[in-house]
Amino acid sequence: MGKIRKAVIPAAGLGTRLLPATKSVPKEMMPIVDKPAIQLIVEECVEAGIELVVLITGRYKGSISDHFDVSYEVEDVLERKAKGELLEKVSHLSSMVDVVSIRQHRPLGLGHAVGCARPIVGDDEPFAVLLPDDLILGERSATHELVEVHQETGTGVLALVEVPPEKVNLYGMIAGERMDNRRVRCTDMVEKPAVGTAPSNMGIAGRYVLPGSVFSYIEETPRGVGGEIQLTDALLRVMREEGMHGKLLEGMRYDTGDAGGLVRANIAYALERPELADDLRAFMRRFV
Ligand code: UTP
Repeated sequence: MGKIRKAVIPAAGLGTRLLPATKSVPKEMMPIVDKPAIQLIVEECVEAGIELVVLITGRYKGSISDHFDVSYEVEDVLERKAKGELLEKVSHLSSMVDVVSIRQHRPLGLGHAVGCARPIVGDDEPFAVLLPDDLILGERSATHELVEVHQETGTGVLALVEVPPEKVNLYGMIAGERMDNRRVRCTDMVEKPAVGTAPSNMGIAGRYVLPGSVFSYIEETPRGVGGEIQLTDALLRVMREEGMHGKLLEGMRYDTGDAGGLVRANIAYALERPELADDLRAFMRRFV
């Protein structure tokens, strides 16, 4: 099975759950320790061997594209002050991967956002999708895990997490047969089922490997409430017509799209940093 070369990152949502911060700062630019969340997502792409990242952005999201551009002023100052290590930190990523951005002119839903990447990704090759709200901290990146399953099965692959029974109404939930401990053959999908009606405890997290054919299914998806085009209908068609697998992620998932998740992610990522971990642990002991 071929390599996955392209990734789409939909980042045009309004981020209302993080208001007022997101009134003027895109939620994807919220810092996780000292990096904007979107940088961790692009680093995940690089780790999984992605060569081209397509960012889907909207109004007020210009700072995301700026972040992946060369910053002459900053780099010049760091160079003159011989701050090599910091210079490496700000310029490293733009040399590892090409990042292009496309505007989604109106926030018409996740399916529509992914569909905006069609002219760049094309219909002939599978590609990865990463929702930047979901940070997954593990030994290997989540996208890497999905690419591996895609290479074994040749199908689309969904990232899965185990969802507690009282939270199934917040997820797209799947039905499927376990192939082994973590790999699943998906047989059905229900978007946000009522508590007590989910077909399993496996919910979709924000990482996907999808075949190029998904674009034509998105195009055919009727608009729902508020004119939005959801991704789920198109995923169901991929599942029924071409088969789909899932992978229960090895890493731990943080939803940085709400305040609690953002704080938890900051703590978890800070504890991974040897120069911060001891102080932070001592600080937290005063509260718990
Ligand atoms: P969410 O459902 O989390 O919506 O979108 P949101 O607007 O970002 O956040 P809240 O709920 O108002 O706080 C899931 C993902 O889909 C993207 C978002 O950027 C996010 O990564 N998205 C959603 C788009 O790119 N365009 C859309 O029209 C909708």
